[in-house]
Amino acid sequence: MAQKKGLASAPVRGRRVLVRVDFNVPQEPNGQVADDRRIVEALPTLNHLRAAGARTILMSHLGRPEGHHDPRFSLRPVVHRLSAILGQPVPLADDIIGVHALEQTARLQNGQFLMLENLRFHPGEEANDPAFAAQLAHLGELFVEDAFGTVHRAHASTVGVPQRVPAFAGLLVERELRELSKLIEDPPQPYVVLLGGAKVADKLPFLASFCGRARTIAIGGALAFPFLRAQGHDLGASLAEPGLEKAADEFLHRAEAAGTELLFPVDLVVERPGVVGAETHPVSAIPRDASACDIGPETRARFAARIDGSKTVFWNGPLGRAEDSRFRAGTREVLSRLGSVAGYHVAAGGDSARIAHDLGVTESFQFISTGGGAALEFVQGLSLPGLAVLPDA
Ligand code: 3PG
Repeated sequence: MAQKKGLASAPVRGRRVLVRVDFNVPQEPNGQVADDRRIVEALPTLNHLRAAGARTILMSHLGRPEGHHDPRFSLRPVVHRLSAILGQPVPLADDIIGVHALEQTARLQNGQFLMLENLRFHPGEEANDPAFAAQLAHLGELFVEDAFGTVHRAHASTVGVPQRVPAFAGLLVERELRELSKLIEDPPQPYVVLLGGAKVADKLPFLASFCGRARTIAIGGALAFPFLRAQGHDLGASLAEPGLEKAADEFLHRAEAAGTELLFPVDLVVERPGVVGAETHPVSAIPRDASACDIGPETRARFAARIDGSKTVFWNGPLGRAEDSRFRAGTREVLSRLGSVAGYHVAAGGDSARIAHDLGVTESFQFISTGGGAALEFVQGLSLPGLAVLPDA
């Protein structure tokens, strides 16, 4: 893809610079930041702006509060961590486009930061409401897109604002584009795509363009369920999201037409109410009251065999409920194989990065993208609204 006008060329000194970051970080049950990788990855851009004397206004979402002010999704714990990392206090404006935000942005001095409250507290963010976007844009004089994880969303802060003020790509976005482009421009074959995780309705419609690019697509986690059901398997009490049949069907057809090999689970580790310990069953014989929680040993062996023969690997999403230590063996076994295989390995997504870290396999990846859904769409060569809106260099 064409290079975007970068931060290095932005005249930021003394100017109010709106920076879209993706601080949608995993949280502990008490709201504290459980994994600050997305904050740390934004540091090159934030340090650049501080050194260059910008007056930086940070904007992010956290979770999906759906247009309502919900204190569980406040960015307060995030600014707390950010202030510690930057070694400088970052105040949180407790509104977004209100009087507090306006006053605080006007008081900013060169080299200082302010963070607006969770953008998704306002319904205008996800709707890309023109009035909301205009008020947001009014807070700054320049815009920097550094939220790679959110560039697949056509929201007010990712599209509406850069349509209204001069816009630049931040250093994280530039790095993500450089690295992930390697997966678009003729990746060494065999290229294996390993997919899992939840957010099934989000991901499923965006997988078809992997067909023809990848030699093999191996799918685990809840993402495999619609396909297994399409093959006629009854998955008992496992998570079922309605309305995905068409997208699943389309994907299967695209893969067949492109000659892309698809691997789905052949056995699953399940849990059942009232039964202590997990059980493993073939996908054709899942008990009615069982919920699938991980891929079984036979599936792990099949997925790992493809990793063994690969030259390029893209991974997004755990292959089971890896946040629960009882159900991470499948993900661990398959990812561990990467360590013994030479090639270009990319992990994508906040949750995936955290799991890779917990499993001690981060060293097996040459690049860990901060984007989940965004990376998934980008590496398939799809146009992402938050990138398309940025001017080319
Ligand atoms: C992500 O975590 O993938 C990004 O922050 C985007 O979040 P969203 O899926 O809620 O839009």
